[in-house]
Parts: sequence; C-alpha cells; structure tokens
Amino acid sequence: MNLTQEDIIRSGYKLQAAPVDAWRIYNENDPIPGYFEFDWLSSRHPDLYHQFALSTVGLMEKLHALIDLTGCDVIDIGAGTGRSAAGAAKKANRVFAVELYTSVVSFGINQLQQNKTKNVFYINGDREHLPVPENSVDVAINAWAELNLEEAYRVLRPRGYLILLGAIPNALCGELTSELVSDYAWLPKECAPAEVFEPEYPDACFTADNSIWNGIRVAGPIHIHEFTYVADYQDYSIVADMTGRLYGPKAKHYFMTRRQSTFSWRLQIIKGQVSK
Ligand SMILES: C[S@@+](CC[C@H](N)C(=O)[O-])C[C@H]1O[C@@H](n2cnc3c(N)ncnc32)[C@H](O)[C@@H]1O
Repeated sequence: MNLTQEDIIRSGYKLQAAPVDAWRIYNENDPIPGYFEFDWLSSRHPDLYHQFALSTVGLMEKLHALIDLTGCDVIDIGAGTGRSAAGAAKKANRVFAVELYTSVVSFGINQLQQNKTKNVFYINGDREHLPVPENSVDVAINAWAELNLEEAYRVLRPRGYLILLGAIPNALCGELTSELVSDYAWLPKECAPAEVFEPEYPDACFTADNSIWNGIRVAGPIHIHEFTYVADYQDYSIVADMTGRLYGPKAKHYFMTRRQSTFSWRLQIIKGQVSK
C-alpha cells in the first residue's frame, strides 16, 4: 500500500509500520513520497531509520565524555527508534522518550526490550506539548530532530541542561553534502571542506550566547563541541541501499562506485544550562 505523509497525518500519526525491509522496493526515479522525507520514511520504515542512525550512536558516546548523566532524569524530544534514548540510558536514572508516530514508538519499545534496557519510558507525544510537567527533568536532549525551545525550557528544572545533537550546519548530509547540494534547495550553498570528514580531523569547541536559542534564559555560555565521526556499516551495499532510499540515486552511486562501507560526519553537540 502506497501511503503518503498526508495519510499518516490524517490518521493522527497512528499508522502501522511497513514490514521489515519493505523500503528496499521502490521506484528509484519516482519514490513515494520522495527523498529526504525523513518523518515519512522513519514512520513507515523504522527499520531503515534505525539501521541508518549510527551517527546518533557517535553523538551519544561523545556526549558521555562531555557531561555526566548519572542519576539524571532525561527527556529525549523526537526520540525516534530509541538510539538517542538508549544512549542516554547507559548513565541516566530515567529517560522519557517522546515520539509523535506510534509506529516508531512500537519499533523503539521492541528494540529496548531486545536490548534489555529498563530505564527508557516511551511516551507517544508531540514536541509542541511535551507530556511531562514543568520543572520535571534535569536534562533535555534533542538529536537530529526539530525542537520547540520554549517547551523544552518549560519542562527543565532550574539549571537543567538543554542539549542539541546533530550535524554542523554546512554538512547536514555528512560527507554527501557537496554531492547533493545542487539537488536540494534547502542545503546551505557553502559546504564544509572535505578535510573535516577525515577521521583524524581534530575536535573544535566554541561558545555562544543565548541569541542562538531565541533568547531563552541560560546560566553562562552555551558550549558547542564539533567532532568527526565515521559510521561503519561493514558492507558498502548496505550503506548504498540505505542512502539511496533516503537521499536519492546520487548517494547510492557514490557508495557503490567507491565500494565504501563507511559514512563520515562532522557532528556537533550544543549544550547549555537554563536559568529560571
Ligand atoms: C530524525 S529522527 C531522530 C531520532 C533519534 N533522536 C535519533 O537520533 O536517532 C526525528 C524523529 O522526530 C520525530 N518527530 C517528528 N515530529 C515530531 C513531533 N512533533 N513531536 C515528537 N516527535 C516528532 C520523528 O517521527 C522522528 O522519529
């Protein structure tokens, strides 16, 4: 059945996922509903998103080097299939994983059961109205997802940490960014230089003020940590298939011709403490 994003919205975000591996069958030149439709792809094919999302594993490993989550109550906003929540749960007391699509929630709960993770609690909910009380969590994380900053601020305790995790702005598609820039108008025209994707490229740290977070009140500066992470998929045909479905035929061609099984990212973690 060819469901569109509109069908999913009409259902109240409550449609079932397609069978595992169903994402492999599509018309390369005219996929339904298209490429870069990450919400549609992850809600219909959470197995695809989960397999692909190794960059989140890298982000969470780095996060543990930057902050000690021991004993913290964490909310993961836009939790997806649980990569970010499970990463936080290695140290945190409890993680509340908020995700809009019920198909993704079901997939994530299943993953957590398989991994015997007991301190992640999925909540089917919307980032615009977070389903937890104000001043109730120590840390809010937001990995590869959009965010309502005011809502995140509302649920954080005074001095709680707000943490955004993803790619640097001029490398949103990792090492593929310069390949794809002419195809997708929303990609910044100036791409990060190729050298930042080399595994040994050094980390970089900056600080910013709260203007980057629309002025929500913070205690002290906001810290930005950039680093390079190489996701290893072991088999080049796997990364070619997945990126082909997510980004389009150019991406598939890139990995097939190079016979490359790794995908390099320049990632960033933005971390600040809210003041109330
Ligand atoms: C790109 S995924 C990131 C998942 C996870 N944080 C990770 O890094 O692997 C973004 C997730 O946000 C979810 N999402 C989209 N709109 C949302 C909303 N309004 N409220 C909560 N989650 C939402 C999507 O369904 C998707 O699973």
